[in-house]
Amino acid sequence: MTSEWRGASPQTSEFERGGGPPRVRMKKFVKWFGISALAIGVMGFLAFLYFIPPFTLLKPEDFSGPAGKAGPDLSTISDPGERMMAERGHYLVTIGSCNDCHTTPGAQGPQIDTMYLAGGFKLTRRGHGSYVSVNLTPDKDTGIGSWTDEDLKRVWRNGLAPDGRPVPGSLMPWPAFSQWTEEDMHAVLVYLRHTAPIVHRTPKPAEAAFTDTAAYEEDYGGADYAAPANLEPAPRTKNHEP
Ligand code: HEC
Repeated sequence: MTSEWRGASPQTSEFERGGGPPRVRMKKFVKWFGISALAIGVMGFLAFLYFIPPFTLLKPEDFSGPAGKAGPDLSTISDPGERMMAERGHYLVTIGSCNDCHTTPGAQGPQIDTMYLAGGFKLTRRGHGSYVSVNLTPDKDTGIGSWTDEDLKRVWRNGLAPDGRPVPGSLMPWPAFSQWTEEDMHAVLVYLRHTAPIVHRTPKPAEAAFTDTAAYEEDYGGADYAAPANLEPAPRTKNHEP
């Protein structure tokens, strides 16, 4: 109540000593508290900007930027129809994440600049064995250079390798690619045939052996399985313990 600070009470003498009535002091306190909080907030935000590692500022879509830009320069294809097909193929190969499994891994991850789609990535699924991705570049001996269009389409459409061997759909996602239209398949084909041929031999695939169909654990390897020391058929005949 206002009468309380007008009387000869302790509050009155405090009022007389300065600082204003309690409401005014409260206002001052709120004002300075607000200013301090704002200053601390601004300093904190600046510190945050200063200390955070730059990669946390990357937009999620920028993480995969290099993979999306990898591959041959398609603008040099003179036939506009073929160029359009190759561009569509590049798009399908990018969103089909072929690059993730088919680019040769190195110490720093997939070697997108030098070994784009050159194969040699080893994937293990317990109970299904180990598989090594093939070289998808048009090299005649080690890549798909001598595969016919039909050879490639059969893999994507039916999951059958040229020799009739079933391709493991649990690791090479052909069941998803089988949804492509004929035109999509053709586009991927045209694009792959325009990539730089890279000589990189991957082990010959062995017969698939599903020793434990219940097991469904995966272990995506890291080393280049096609490095000379590792160049041997993929062990597929029994449960593979990495
Ligand atoms: C999750 C990993 C993964 C992705 C993604 C992937 N592949 Fe594969 N691919 C593999 C593996 C592993 C093999 C080897 C399978 C084997 O040993 O039979 C393979 C094999 C192949 C083969 C040869 C089939 C054979 O086994 O003889 C072709 C062709 C192929 N992939 C094309 C593609 C294309 C095109 C894409 C993208 C649209 C793609 N792959 C995406 C893992 C993958």
